[in-house]
Amino acid sequence: MERRVSTVISDNISRLRTEALERIAAAPSMEAVDAVRVEALGRKGALAQFSKDFGKLTPEERAEAGKALNAAKQEIEEAIERRRLGFESVALAARLEAEWVDLTLPAPGTRPGSLHPVTQIQQEIEDLFLSLGFTVLDGPEVETEYHNFDALNIPPDHPARDMQDTFWLDGGLLLRTHTSPVQVRGMEQFRPPLRMIAPGRVFRNEEVDASHEHTFYQLEGMMIDRDVSVAHLLYFMKILLTSVFRREVTVRLRPGYFPFVEPGFELDIHCLICGGAGCPVCKQSGWVELLPCGLVHPNVLRLSGIDPEQWGGFAFGLGLTRLAMMRYGIDDIRLLQSGDLRFLKQF
Ligand code: PHE
Repeated sequence: MERRVSTVISDNISRLRTEALERIAAAPSMEAVDAVRVEALGRKGALAQFSKDFGKLTPEERAEAGKALNAAKQEIEEAIERRRLGFESVALAARLEAEWVDLTLPAPGTRPGSLHPVTQIQQEIEDLFLSLGFTVLDGPEVETEYHNFDALNIPPDHPARDMQDTFWLDGGLLLRTHTSPVQVRGMEQFRPPLRMIAPGRVFRNEEVDASHEHTFYQLEGMMIDRDVSVAHLLYFMKILLTSVFRREVTVRLRPGYFPFVEPGFELDIHCLICGGAGCPVCKQSGWVELLPCGLVHPNVLRLSGIDPEQWGGFAFGLGLTRLAMMRYGIDDIRLLQSGDLRFLKQF
């Protein structure tokens, strides 16, 4: 029996549909999918050809075949759309992967930078003394003669003025030769008991060489309280040095002269290079001179309005620049202010 034309058409539509769906599913790219679209759904495409045969059909058959045709078209279009979305999301994922940037990273080619070795030591010592109840004070680099000298028991004709070659400015001002004037400012600002440190830049009119600079850093310390003795001074200095050198250090006191302390000392430490046996660094002595200190002179207290019968204190002046040189083995003081990145990058 001859098959009905509509059945033949339906079968052909179904076959074409299946074939198109398979090709769409297997297409390696969107271009390949589009090619299938043109062949199957285009105006001159395979499915369009069927419409021509519709004339041979009865109205019922035509309706049936038309329905099948539309369903096939719709199914193929949906399959194409699914593939398009698939290709797009794969492309998007690849793009995100390729363009991924960590916004928290520093810009390429820039070194994040680091703190100057003197700043590093200064901050460490500040943290230590803050934890011991000291206040960190700041003072001006351009000082009055009174704060730098007179109030520290160094009157105008005192020979100790020549111990520190001074840069004099107009109007009796000067570049401070040490951080000790901040002791005076501390006493003016606060009543005893008082614990303060004052790191800062100081200036001396010196011939510059590998171990002398016109500009360097000190860290002043002062404690004023009842019954302060040399034992207190030694106690705090040992804590300071143990923390800076990260090990137990042996210290000794020698007499030292500074008009603003009495008694005054030079504090030495056992040479950290040879452990006290003697080497070129300590000039075979086993000891390295590290910091001057002493008990605050009664005149200094009195000049700042503190009664030396009631109060006593100790003071010290740490050479921050020298300390940085010792800790990092820097043999030329001029490097520290050179701004030379080859030097600074090492810290
Ligand atoms: N100011 C002194 C100097 O620079 C050091 C010092 C400070 C000495 C405090 C004793 C006490 O030479």
